[in-house]
Amino acid sequence: MLNFLSSLLRLLPPETAHNLTIRGLKLGLARIVPRVQHLPNAGITLKNSKLKLFNRVGLAAGFDKNADVFNAMLKLGFGFVECGTVTPRPQFGNAKPRIFRLTEDLGVINRLGFNNRGLEYFVRKLSTSPERIGPVGANIGANKTSVEAGEANKDYITGIKAVWNHADYITLNISSPNTPGLRDLQYIDELKNLLEQVGGVAEVQCKHEKFCPLFLKVAPDLDLTAVKEIAKVALEAPYLHGLIVSNTTISRPDMLMSVNCKQSGGLSGKPLMSLSTEILKAFYGEVGDNLDIIGVGGINSPEDVQIKLDAGAQAVQLYTGLTYFGFKLIKDLVNQQGSAG
Ligand code: FNR
Repeated sequence: MLNFLSSLLRLLPPETAHNLTIRGLKLGLARIVPRVQHLPNAGITLKNSKLKLFNRVGLAAGFDKNADVFNAMLKLGFGFVECGTVTPRPQFGNAKPRIFRLTEDLGVINRLGFNNRGLEYFVRKLSTSPERIGPVGANIGANKTSVEAGEANKDYITGIKAVWNHADYITLNISSPNTPGLRDLQYIDELKNLLEQVGGVAEVQCKHEKFCPLFLKVAPDLDLTAVKEIAKVALEAPYLHGLIVSNTTISRPDMLMSVNCKQSGGLSGKPLMSLSTEILKAFYGEVGDNLDIIGVGGINSPEDVQIKLDAGAQAVQLYTGLTYFGFKLIKDLVNQQGSAG
């Protein structure tokens, strides 16, 4: 039944298939999918952020942009779910079509451009849905117009304040390739400035509200000098607990075979696995265990999870694998992790 549904969805344009999946999950689709039982004592705690996860396999940002289905995804077995990217104001994103399957390569190219319903809707969902049943992160970004006006930092501060009390962790997404200028925030002076401003606000929040760890999500399109510089700034930041490595790539490996490989946007899935793991290794080489690292990019099998963990990740996330292997993949990865300890 599930395999049939997945095959049916793959006949539809990707964004339509995604929207139908979200609608189905809201209507209770998770009930007909085999679930993974979260065992009470099987969870893990990340060292620096003290983030408690059901297991090491999480859902990456971009699937549940508006925090509509995090409980359903936790029920399906994910050890944690990252919602967003959310921007302060609702945004349509780029013109459609803007998601492309690279079926032969088990990849996807997207140029969505932070389409989302804005912070007000997102926070309402996080705070008023039936209570969160597990760890949920909020991935925050900047509106296109703010980036154009050179005011991206303001949007991150607005985002932090809005989601602080409703999320188990917050991710600063400065690495989406689909908002022109956003990745410039990875340049050293910009990054220092952002992390200082954001860190100051976070420290004040922490005094008056609960503790909430902060992660920085980086691109895989960095050379080793950039990795070293970003790692140094991240280690010196006043308030930062981890890195998420990585977002999608703007590079196009030679081996791509699918007709869609020339589309512009960020490439994810299998063709991203080795690049994102190399960058993860490079970051781990710089920051060691002083920051928690969550490894993302191209995970399709239990072996891929192990490769990320061996490269220095404490936990992993995935998204594109679900497109090709369906929700069954979650169970395969989590069960394997459980037995691997
Ligand atoms: C993404 N990704 C993403 N990341 C992010 O930080 N904010 C976002 O809004 C999105 N949106 C998004 C949409 C789509 C359609 C895809 C495929 C991906 C990137 C995602 O979280 C992840 O970092 C990469 O996709 C790499 O992991 P996978 O997909 O190879 O497992």
